[in-house]
Amino acid sequence: MSELISQTLTLIRPDDWHLHLRDGATLQSVIAHTARQFQRAIIMPNLQPPVTTGERALEYRERILDAVLKAGLPADAFTPLMTLYLTDNTSAEEIRGAYATGVIHAVKLYPAGATTNSDAGVTDLLGRCGDALEAMQDIGMPLLVHGEVTDPDVDLFDREAVFIERVMIPLRQRYPALKVVFEHLTTKEGVDYVSQADGPIAATLTAHHLLYNRNAIFQGGLRPHWYCLPVLKREVHRQALLEAATSGSPRFFLGTDSAPHARGRKEHACGCAGCYTALHAMELYATAFERAGRLDKLEAFASLNGPAFYGLPVNSGTLTLEKRPFTIPETVPMGDDELVPLAAGEALEWSVRED
Ligand code: DOR
Ligand code: ZN
Repeated sequence: MSELISQTLTLIRPDDWHLHLRDGATLQSVIAHTARQFQRAIIMPNLQPPVTTGERALEYRERILDAVLKAGLPADAFTPLMTLYLTDNTSAEEIRGAYATGVIHAVKLYPAGATTNSDAGVTDLLGRCGDALEAMQDIGMPLLVHGEVTDPDVDLFDREAVFIERVMIPLRQRYPALKVVFEHLTTKEGVDYVSQADGPIAATLTAHHLLYNRNAIFQGGLRPHWYCLPVLKREVHRQALLEAATSGSPRFFLGTDSAPHARGRKEHACGCAGCYTALHAMELYATAFERAGRLDKLEAFASLNGPAFYGLPVNSGTLTLEKRPFTIPETVPMGDDELVPLAAGEALEWSVRED
């Protein structure tokens, strides 16, 4: 049980169930931010080229572990939980072989064209990926879903709700025992679906979708650092997400979707999607939970529900938050470049205690 003693809150050490670390100099720049707060993270496979095979995932894992050491951290400071990038051609053997390694935990579905580096993604899930889905259902390997249709006739703000009808419901009818994580849920329709559906389903929620509605993208001008996919939605959706996150339901857990992009790629005529929150993730989540009056539910969301769904042990360490102002830096270095954290320059009321 989490303990709130006057102005500190100690939690079982949390995990991030949805994270972009990238590779090379970017990976090296961001790894310590995540390791400061989280023991483990599910690592997204949308590199260039994407992590489509078990072999590539194992090589990527080695590069992440090297980056942990090069950051001056002990080897056990952070455990990457690897994923495979699903394509139209992923075979059942690839899935079974990857899962058998014990370090590749899930498969990520990007509908082709849905977001950053999704061109190699799936064009027709039920038509093309039957063997892979069958194998995953059989061995209990979760499918992590970017749940948006890419049909240009569907309004950007409706893409998640339409995905539920067109893809999620038929998928789960055909593979009722398949474990599914609806990643970075953004709508009331999504919350209703995940709350009420039968079978093994859960969802991750980002800090930014709990704290902001779509007004944030347009506040006093166009604000590219609030642009992500799925895009922020109306206030009614934010409220539904916050209610789900703080409800104590085991179906909802923490996934930052922290997505580093160089400043110039965001502040651009065609800016990249993604919010950088790894630096201050638990400060942001604590702020959202406190505003909802539900700090007592933060530990289940951040530290218990995810391991339970993935069938992994709960962490043994702890993380302490204290009620001390934290001013989000304007920029942080990223290789030879820099990146802008979400809500840069603003102050939060919670800080992670450095032990
Ligand atoms: O905003 C996003 N950024 N959404 C995604 O789905 C991908 C991510 C990225 O990789 O930058
Ligand atoms: Zn993501």
